[in-house]
Amino acid sequence: MKILTEHIDVQGINTFDVFRKNGGYKAAEKALKTMTPDEVTEEVKKSGIRGRGGAGFPMGMKWSFLAKPEGIPRYLVCNADESEPGTFKDHYLMMKSPHTLIEGMIVSSYALGANTSYIYVRGELMYVVHILEKAIQEAYDKGFLGKNILGSGYDLDLFVQPGGGAYICGEETALLESLEGKRGNPRNKPPFPAVKGLWQCPTVVNNVESISATSWIINNGGDEYAKIGIGRSTGTKLISASGHVRKPGVYEIPLGITVEDFIYSDEWCGGIRDGHKLKAVVAGGSSVPILPAELILKTANGEKRLMTYESLSDGGFITGTMLGSGGFVVMDETTCIVHNTLTFGRFYHHESCGQCSPCREGTGWMDKILYRIEHGQGRQEDIDLLVDVAKKIEGNTICPLGEAASWPVAAAIRHFRDEFEWHVKHPEKATQKGAVFMRE
Ligand code: NAI
Ligand code: SF4
Repeated sequence: MKILTEHIDVQGINTFDVFRKNGGYKAAEKALKTMTPDEVTEEVKKSGIRGRGGAGFPMGMKWSFLAKPEGIPRYLVCNADESEPGTFKDHYLMMKSPHTLIEGMIVSSYALGANTSYIYVRGELMYVVHILEKAIQEAYDKGFLGKNILGSGYDLDLFVQPGGGAYICGEETALLESLEGKRGNPRNKPPFPAVKGLWQCPTVVNNVESISATSWIINNGGDEYAKIGIGRSTGTKLISASGHVRKPGVYEIPLGITVEDFIYSDEWCGGIRDGHKLKAVVAGGSSVPILPAELILKTANGEKRLMTYESLSDGGFITGTMLGSGGFVVMDETTCIVHNTLTFGRFYHHESCGQCSPCREGTGWMDKILYRIEHGQGRQEDIDLLVDVAKKIEGNTICPLGEAASWPVAAAIRHFRDEFEWHVKHPEKATQKGAVFMRE
């Protein structure tokens, strides 16, 4: 079942004409010519689609929160700042099929009553900015953007903005600050962007994948979309699979397949690389807790774990899901979990914007402690000290980066404490690159 990637390998799908020949822009035509904005919103609500950026917040509900005061403009901003380590699905979609996103932007902007919309693209991906700009120009030339689109009376201008080059610019309020030309510092919430967003006006911020899915929903109906998947995890999801699998890549899966199938089936990852065994998985990008093999394949109750928001949810993550952004990082038994935790920890320390003391200082402390454990200078009490620092960051910061930095450290210690202890007990094994834990 492919919704977003059905035609992704068709030669020339990045051009307007080929995209159109393959059924593109039908949803934009249908929405603008035959539906009211409220009817479009209703279909998105019926679909049950949840935000694909990582938080899994119901998209239709977010749209219904949008304030609509008289005479004040509203905006749709697409978050294409995809920077979560292990996540590269939006990048793939925009690069291969930019019109999929542009059509979704037209449908979604129409539903929200936005006449100016933005796609904020990760700053490092300038070639994607150029691909989108070229495709947007084609859409203007063919009458799908600009004034009085298809004679419907609806106007829409669409702009692409290169990002500020920092991970934190993907946090929705930091993104809005950056889009306004300022340093990308997150804002306190509430007010949520739906009430005060870009230029203090009501704004919806949605991920690339979420917006792209709206065209299929309009063509086929929200009820049809809701039939795919299981329970509250409806539709398909793009998963970026990386690490020690035989076939890394971007896969569009129907939500609800088992994690075991996703890892071992030839349709998806094709199993662990030859001669090796599964050790651990980070299922939703580096912000979610790591799970050891036995817990990623089965829940604590012994049930097969599914690729859904609910099934991947018992790690204590505040937004309630380890499916996160779909950055599925697979590790075999050659992976040293302390080294892996240090790599992620160093990343968060570097990317903290520094506004809140617990995150600014805490990520630095965790980085230093992890570094000394990895390099043979750790003390036994450092392991509990790490957990303590992680706990003190949790819930005490403006944005979720603090938690994203602290939960994975706490989870790594919870599930792989023996590896941390081994590092402390064997300083002689440390090299300049650190020590590599190998199970005896
Ligand atoms: P969140 O749960 O705070 O918010 C989710 C969305 O719902 C936001 O757009 C928020 O404005 C909206 N919302 C929530 N309550 C609302 C209310 N009462 N009224 C109006 N709107 C409301 O999560 P957040 O901060 O948006 O995202 C965190 C997630 O981002 C993490 O789970 C992580 O997996 C993911 N992430 C993804 C990255 C990527 O590259 N794709 C990078 C970093 C993190
Ligand atoms: Fe900045 Fe960290 Fe505070 Fe987020 S939690 S606002 S990244 S200091």
